[in-house]
Amino acid sequence: MRMYDIIEKKRDGGELSESEIKWFVSGVSDGSLPDYQITALLMAIYLKGMSDAETAALTGAMAHSGNTLDLSRFKDLSADKHSTGGVGDKTTLVVAPIAACLGAKIAKMSGRGLGHTGGTVDKLEAIPGYRTSLSPDEFINTAEKHGICVIGADKSLDPADKKLYALRDVTATVGCIPLIVSSIMSKKLAGGAHNIVLDVKCGSGSFMKTAADARLLAEKMVTIGKTCGKNVSAVITNMDVPLGSAVGNWVEVREALQVLRGSREFPDLRKVCLTLAAELVSMSRGIDEDSAEKAVEDALDSGKAYEKFLEWISAQGGDISVFDDSSFCRAEYSMEVKSRRDGYISSCNTEGIGLCAMTLGAGRAAKDDVIDPTAGILIKKKRGDFVKQGETEAGLLTSRRETLEEACRRYCESRTVTDAPPEPEPLIYEKIKGR
Ligand code: URA
Repeated sequence: MRMYDIIEKKRDGGELSESEIKWFVSGVSDGSLPDYQITALLMAIYLKGMSDAETAALTGAMAHSGNTLDLSRFKDLSADKHSTGGVGDKTTLVVAPIAACLGAKIAKMSGRGLGHTGGTVDKLEAIPGYRTSLSPDEFINTAEKHGICVIGADKSLDPADKKLYALRDVTATVGCIPLIVSSIMSKKLAGGAHNIVLDVKCGSGSFMKTAADARLLAEKMVTIGKTCGKNVSAVITNMDVPLGSAVGNWVEVREALQVLRGSREFPDLRKVCLTLAAELVSMSRGIDEDSAEKAVEDALDSGKAYEKFLEWISAQGGDISVFDDSSFCRAEYSMEVKSRRDGYISSCNTEGIGLCAMTLGAGRAAKDDVIDPTAGILIKKKRGDFVKQGETEAGLLTSRRETLEEACRRYCESRTVTDAPPEPEPLIYEKIKGR
């Protein structure tokens, strides 16, 4: 086969065969294909799309491009979650301990943030001592003993996605449904869990800007998971505003802790976490949705999920004493964003808020940038809230003083204040089940 012919076929709108797709993925993984030909095909896919059969073939080939995890010792209890990426999304920190204390086995590999979106691994690394890199045996044994283990993505799993994702990131080809489906589902299939909940974000802070696109993405991922014999549920959730009030790394860990300790201060975060956890528990325990919802609420409100969180973090070397130390990880500098007028916070460009956090040092503009764990945003007024002139809308935190001015400008450009309140939006759009 010749890469030239494959690119030409897709450029002209043709359908690639399974053998052409397998050949392409193996050339990506073994390094025999040059980046310029890989990216030419990615752009052709972006522009011409892929059929369901092509997307399934690409997903399967990527899932088998490296090692796969064998979680068969957990039988039907193995569970995983994936978010399509958002701002202020600290749900794994809450969902994993809730599901684990109800019997699910979470052996999960999580990602780092890039661009405007945050990543669970960066948040966990804000906890001193927490180890995000474990040997395969230690990973599985920790999950078996404690019900949860969360580490960074293993290089040997789905190497094709690592290469393709890095190239998509710099060639404006990330926001393409067949490429997102194959990227996410190949990682989930290689990760080995039997029950998977997908948090498909919808709105200005996510890749899917409309509910119709989010539904299409969710349906395609659920179908592929089902075809591969997995229990998969997708929950489409709002990302037109950041989730909760904190955006950053340490500030997000602290907010997740508050939810785990029973706080009702962040109702959107609590609700999304309970919904995702109920899906995982319902699938992995084989119980109906109502019983699962009741069980997850009890686990959170009784403090059992909080105890499980402490057990998990300690098991991976994290120092849990910092959770009660208000001076830990304090930013050296801060600035308050004040409202210039009375009115309602209306439209919100959540991607802009994510970029504001990145500017402060909470995220990476480039792969090798170093994170400032103290950096972040504490949002005081969210979409729909009334604000008075001079009132604080948000606090910006950083240990890099020089970032404050640009971050403040970005924050102000990311929302508008209007006389009339905005139309309310759903927090949870819908659930799509593949069982
Ligand atoms: N998250 C992923 O893992 N892959 C994508 O392509 C987009 C979001």
